[in-house]
Amino acid sequence: MRTFIAIDITPAMRESIRALLAELKQTEARIRWSRPEALHITLKFLGEVPPAKIADVKACLASIRTPAPFSISVHGSGFFPGDGSPRVIWVGVDGGKDLGALASLIEQALEPMGFPRENRPYSAHLTLGRINGAANLNAVRELLRQKEPLALGSFTANEYFLYESKPSPGGSVYTKLARLEMAAGGSPAGSV
Ligand code: 2AM
Repeated sequence: MRTFIAIDITPAMRESIRALLAELKQTEARIRWSRPEALHITLKFLGEVPPAKIADVKACLASIRTPAPFSISVHGSGFFPGDGSPRVIWVGVDGGKDLGALASLIEQALEPMGFPRENRPYSAHLTLGRINGAANLNAVRELLRQKEPLALGSFTANEYFLYESKPSPGGSVYTKLARLEMAAGGSPAGSV
């Protein structure tokens, strides 16, 4: 099954981004916008994992000594891979050193299980949408420019999840497979 590891955003943050998405959609740019209910901050993408290996992945995650709960602030926006030929539009996620440290601890713990490390440095973000064409993209840029500095608030991250991602006609459907608490290394992965 296709899996990834992510931090959820709070309902309040989801509403802020829902409002932003509603405005951005009015540009009628050729962007496949994220569904607000599916937004998350990816820590590590695992890809296909045999179902028989999921229990080991959960146990591995549960053994990680994570940072204590930490603050995440969501602000700023941009494009991947860059402004030139953008494919993804995102809002920025700043979790200080703890967020990068958590992503790195997860990567280190899972590498011996056959999940290779990323070649690129970890870049925390929330994907707002995937760009399918240049039409009206300048209207999106202009709207975001008007909103600078885009500050969507902050919240405390005290848990993260192992997710299954299933493709479906309306966009990927995400299902929680395990809940992990910050600073809870050494205990079994919680059920969801
Ligand atoms: P994204 O938001 O930047 O697209 C589930 O697909 C999650 O895993 C998405 O949030 C996605 O990040 C992330 N992810 C990271 N690497 C991926 C990859 N190679 N393929 C698909 N999703 C990936």
